[in-house]
Amino acid sequence: MMVAVNDTQVNPTKTKRILIIGYSFSGQTSGLVRQIMAALQQAGHEVVKERLTPDPALKFPTSSIWACLAMMLTTFLRIRTPIQALSPVCFTGFDLIILGGPTWSYNPSGPILSLIDRDGKRLFAGQTVLPVISCRGYWRMHRWGLVRLLVRSGATVPNCIVFSHPNREPWRTIGVFLKIAGKTPERWPILHRHYTHFGHSRDQQDEAARFGTLIGQALSRNQSLAGIEFHTPLALP
Ligand SMILES: Cc1cc2nc3c(=O)[nH]c(=O)nc-3n(C[C@H](O)[C@H](O)[C@H](O)COP(=O)(O)O)c2cc1C
Repeated sequence: MMVAVNDTQVNPTKTKRILIIGYSFSGQTSGLVRQIMAALQQAGHEVVKERLTPDPALKFPTSSIWACLAMMLTTFLRIRTPIQALSPVCFTGFDLIILGGPTWSYNPSGPILSLIDRDGKRLFAGQTVLPVISCRGYWRMHRWGLVRLLVRSGATVPNCIVFSHPNREPWRTIGVFLKIAGKTPERWPILHRHYTHFGHSRDQQDEAARFGTLIGQALSRNQSLAGIEFHTPLALP
């Protein structure tokens, strides 16, 4: 049964249905989203998970420095990455949709852009959507553009989770580029002193789990997600 609270349709039961849908190229977004999902399930919510599958498949890491540069250029031009059809369950309506994906050249990733082009209105219209962004550090344009696309599809976007890699610049950018190109910068002479780890830290994973708990509590109490502080020093160091 649905009742209207503050002009929106709210499922009054404590247990909510949540769709977690998204894409992860090098495993960083999926690591964060896994923590959020576990916390939501622990709180008793029903979670449906859908992974976007590029077709043809994308391989991480890329095969060379040149292939990595080509990927940076095509993603800067917002060239879409074709994806396979979604499972029919994705279109059954949810209390919350969590949309996870990385930043690619200041934009949402190609699979997410394809998803919104092809299924945006059918999937997101009338739904509450919480984006989860994983990036090395430059996320503002991505967040702005993504929220705009989601709202145009008919979604309500009450908040947004962003995690950036905790390394310092310029090592973060150099390290991410080399990692995507299939190198191991954390073992290179000199570089290894400044770049010890690719991607998000264990503390950030724990922070994602804490966010999941807060989301679960807000949903159970029929509270808006807008009031949750996701902009913390651990998420955005
Ligand atoms: C083609 C490409 C372009 C990227 N561009 C950006 C960017 O503009 N800003 C940024 O902060 N990170 C950028 N990144 C880094 C990723 O957003 C970051 O490594 C993220 O954690 C990857 O998440 P994933 O493993 O879920 O794919 C880029 C990565 C790739 C592969």
